[in-house]
Parts: sequence; C-alpha cells; structure tokens
Amino acid sequence: MILTDLTKPIKKDLGRVEEKISKALKTDNVFIQQMVDYLSHSTGKRVRPALAILSAKYCGKLSEDLISLGAALEMLHVATLIHDDIIDNSAVRRKQKTLNFKWGNEISVLMGDYVFASSFYLMAKDLPKNIVSSLADTTNIICHGEISETFNRFNVDLNEEQYLEVIKEKTAVLFAASCQTGAMLAGADALTVKKLYYFGLNIGMAFQVVDDTLDFVGKQTKVGKPVMSDLREGKLTLPVIYCLVSATKAENKKLKTIILRKVKTDSDLKFLNFLLNKYDAINRSLQKAKHYADDAKMALKSLNGNKNEFMQFADFLINRDF
Ligand code: IPE
Ligand code: IPE
Ligand code: MG
Ligand code: MG
Repeated sequence: MILTDLTKPIKKDLGRVEEKISKALKTDNVFIQQMVDYLSHSTGKRVRPALAILSAKYCGKLSEDLISLGAALEMLHVATLIHDDIIDNSAVRRKQKTLNFKWGNEISVLMGDYVFASSFYLMAKDLPKNIVSSLADTTNIICHGEISETFNRFNVDLNEEQYLEVIKEKTAVLFAASCQTGAMLAGADALTVKKLYYFGLNIGMAFQVVDDTLDFVGKQTKVGKPVMSDLREGKLTLPVIYCLVSATKAENKKLKTIILRKVKTDSDLKFLNFLLNKYDAINRSLQKAKHYADDAKMALKSLNGNKNEFMQFADFLINRDF
C-alpha cells in the first residue's frame, strides 16, 4: 500500500487542509510571505492531518473545524521541523534546502515561532477549548523531548529506555494527539477517544524508530533529507544502542570513541557498518517498530466498525522507505 492510495478517500479534505494552511500563514510582510511560499513548495507526507481526518471519519461526524484541526496539527509539526533543522544543523528537508540553510539560523528561529504562533491562533479561533488544551499539552511535551534529546547529544551511555522516552515525547505524542483530537472533534465517546490515542501513540513510536533506521539505510533522494546524520550530530538511536549493548568490551569502547569523534573517517563508517551487520541492529530495530505497530492495532481491537484504514496506515508506516 502506498501513501497516496491510503489517503485517496480523504484527498479532498487534505486539499482543504493545504488551503487552510496557506490562509493561516498569509501575511502582508513580503519577506515572511516569501519564506511561507518557499515552505509550501515541498509539503511532506501530511501524516498527522491524515490521521486526524481518518479518526474523525471513523467516529462519524465531519465538520469544517476538522480542516482547521488538520491545518493546526501540520503547522505545529512544521514549526518543530524548522527548529529541529537549526538544532541538527541540517541543510536539506523535504527535498529542498532548509530555511536555516537559505536564510540563516536567526531568521529561522523566528520563522519557527511564527508558524507555531499561527497554529495556536488558528486553534484558538476555530477549535473547542478541550482540544486546544490537549494540543498545548502536547506541544509542551514535544519541547521536553527535543530538549532531552539535545541535552543527551554525545551521551554514549544513553540506554534504550531513555531513547524510547525521548521519541515518545518528541514524536509519538503528536501522532497520539492527532488521532485523539480528530475523534474528540467528531464527538466520540471517551473510550473510543482513549483507544485512538493509544493507537496514535504506538504508531508514532513505530514511525520514529523507522525514521531512525532510515537514517542508516535510507536514500537521501527518497527520504528527502540527509542520511547518516543522526550519529554525526551525536544522536544515539536504537540501532546504535543495540550495537553498544551487544558489542564486546573492545568493540563497545571503539564504537564510543568513533561516536565522540563524529564518525569522521571512512574506516569509522566501515566499523560502524560492520557492527550494525554483526548485531543485526537494523532488523532488530525494525522488529521493535513492528511490535509497536502491532500494539497500535491491538488498541483498536475492541472497537466496532471498519478499521481497515487504520490497519493499512500502521502497515504503511513500518514498511515505508521515505
Ligand atoms: C519527520 O516527520 C520528523 C519525525 C518525526 C521523524 P515526517 O517524516 O512526518 O516529515 P514530513 O512531514 O513528511 O516532511
Ligand atoms: C524530529 O525528529 C522530531 C521533531 C521535530 C519534534 P528527527 O530529528 O529524527 O527528525 P528528522 O530526521 O530531522 O526529520
Ligand atoms: Mg532532525
Ligand atoms: Mg530523523
């Protein structure tokens, strides 16, 4: 299943989300508008609004506010990406140069703030208080996650549990909130809202684990962002954590040294790849992602109705190569 097939039934709604985003970011300031237009050239997968719309559809009731919710979620996500690229010193995102690469860090920090603020303005204007409140909480947690991750750069003792906590905060909670608020807006009962929240949380975990494996084995032309960059930025992700845990004492020591010198040479890279292979670290990580996807599906088990789209979504997220 490819993403465009999956989102075909909600294509019209996603088109309206695009229009809503353009409107929400529109400004008389020519320079800001130039950056807004630049951002709209390349739009990403739109997974979060898609999840909100699918959740609302599943729960039955569709309203105009759902389009605002989708737009607000995506803008929240885009704002985090703008800041993330500054922190990660990343030059490419969504197959084009990052804002920080084109306009520098200072303007980009402020542009990230502008997109954040525009998202919250849209929420405050169009969405009920309980949804705004959930998204405010979610944003808070994302900040925690990004701060913890940044704080732990080059912490070669980071363990699996700490890693999982970071990705839950920086990524999974927004997936959870997308499903949750979509269901809330559609007037779903508390139990359904809760189950969709857990579905989102678990596919969000799977999504980030897959993203972190793609950093090692993906192709830049496919993923649209640089590969082999997490470790060079000091971010220890699951495949490397598995290597460190499984390695012999000597291998462990050498790998830590290599991480601390930012995987500088070809032979560093070769050694890293040797360990990834030796300890089957990519497959083991993908297995972990699959467990999360299975837990996500389980969360919906007791719900009635047609859950095919959710199941297919979960499968897509773990099998993707972009
Ligand atoms: C990238 O998210 C950041 C992560 C949470 C891994 P996406 O992979 O959803 O990025 P876009 O929106 O498609 O560009
Ligand atoms: C980004 O995670 C998560 C947030 C922006 C909150 P990553 O750092 O893994 O995302 P990419 O790989 O840069 O897209
Ligand atoms: Mg990043
Ligand atoms: Mg990444």
